[in-house]
This record gives sequence, C-alpha cells and structure tokens, in this order.
Amino acid sequence: MNDRISGTDSQLKFEVAESYAEMSRQAGKIIIAALKRRPTLLLCASAGGTPTGAYACLAAACERQPSLFRRMHVLQIDEWGGLEANAPATCAADLRRKLTAPLRLSARQFVGFRTEAKDPGAECERISRWLTIHGPIDVCVLGIGLNGHIAMNEPGEALRPQAHVAELAKSSLEHSLLRDLADKPKFGLTLGMWEILCARQILLLASGAAKRAVLRRLREPKITTQFPASFLWLHPNATVLCDREAAETKGTKAT
Ligand code: PGA
Repeated sequence: MNDRISGTDSQLKFEVAESYAEMSRQAGKIIIAALKRRPTLLLCASAGGTPTGAYACLAAACERQPSLFRRMHVLQIDEWGGLEANAPATCAADLRRKLTAPLRLSARQFVGFRTEAKDPGAECERISRWLTIHGPIDVCVLGIGLNGHIAMNEPGEALRPQAHVAELAKSSLEHSLLRDLADKPKFGLTLGMWEILCARQILLLASGAAKRAVLRRLREPKITTQFPASFLWLHPNATVLCDREAAETKGTKAT
C-alpha cells in the first residue's frame, strides 16, 4: 500500500501509491469519506490530467450511490482567461466532462471563473466573495505545475492571497489542456494562496516521472514564493499523494 516518506512529525504528509490507479483510488476514498462526514461538502477541484482517475472513482461511486453527491458543491480552482465560453480547452469544460456531468451536479452546484469575463479582475472578486460567503473549502484537490505552481499561483517575488488575474508562466502555457490551441490564453484567473490554505483539507496529486524533480523539491521543508507549493508546509492537514513513478528520485526509490 502507501508508504509514508516523510517523518511523522512533519506537517506535510507524503503518501506513495504503487500506481496511478492506486493513487486515484486513494484520493477518491478520501473525498468520499469527507462527503460522508459532510454531505454539503465544498470540493475545490483542479482541472488537468492528474486528478482524472480520482474523479473517475467519484463517478463510479455516484453510479452506486447517487444520493451521496446530491448536496455537494464544486468550486473550480482556476481558469484560463480570454477563451471562448465552453471551449473544450477551458478548465470548466474539463471539469464538466470528468466531474460535474458524471456526478450529475446541477448548474447551481458548480461555481467557476468565467473565461470570457469582460472584467477579469471583477470576476475574481466575484469568486472571492462567493467563497467568503460559502467557504471554507472542505477538500481542495490540487495538481502541481512543473515550476511548483499550485492552481495558477506562479512562482515570483510575491504571492497573492485572494483570487486574482495571473500572469501565466511559459511552462503553464504548455499545459496539456492548451496543446491544440493556436491562440493561447493571455492570463489566468485563479484562487489565491490564502483561499487555498484556508481549506480544511488539501490533497495534492502528482503522477509520473515528469513530476519527480518538482516533488523532490517539495519534500524540502523550505517555504518560498519562488515555489508556491512549498506553502503547503504551513497547512495542518495537507497530503501529497503520488504514484511510485513520481516519487522515485534518481537511482533511489522512496522508502
Ligand atoms: P496536470 O497539471 O495535472 O495536468 O499535470 C498540473 C498543473 O499544471 O497544475
């Protein structure tokens, strides 16, 4: 099963699953347990490749027990700015395909940034206000960028606490969701670091060899705005769930 690879006294927990499927099952189990404790769960969801399997586990659970998902809400953690509404490359469309449609959530149960908002700053304020009223997030599912970003909080001299318009790093513009787009988004809309860190529980998922270097850095308990994921060390209930491929460091296996 899963190995702990950090000391038990550290705040940020690392769990290594044998495979992507096992990591996804584990994430699904954690979310379902939280949903059973709190049927009105607010799940903050990341789009992108890594959480796909975890969302599929939730979809399978919904087939067995649809009533479990009836009162939950999903908050989208970030969005590319300036795409066409409903464009397949939007994070909202990705979440609709993988999460909200299979869970049969109504439009009312999904809250997200509008990619085509005329005033992106005001759109971010709208989401922040919504979160102030309806938060905190119960479970926040994060991925991690190759540069250590979480959501679209990119490395830099400072990080922003609340939802904001983000300048996207070059590596973020190469994200798989944008692969087929000729016109890349010019900016991002994202929850801020404080809003993420206020979540009751955080699960950061990482899979595959491409994430090895970034996970190796995340294991160091050093907090810097140049590596936004490092702020998870300040959270009392954050877990990094990764597969063995992502956990392996050069020549050595995580034990
Ligand atoms: P991924 O994206 O899950 O598609 O690897 C993670 C990220 O860039 O935040």
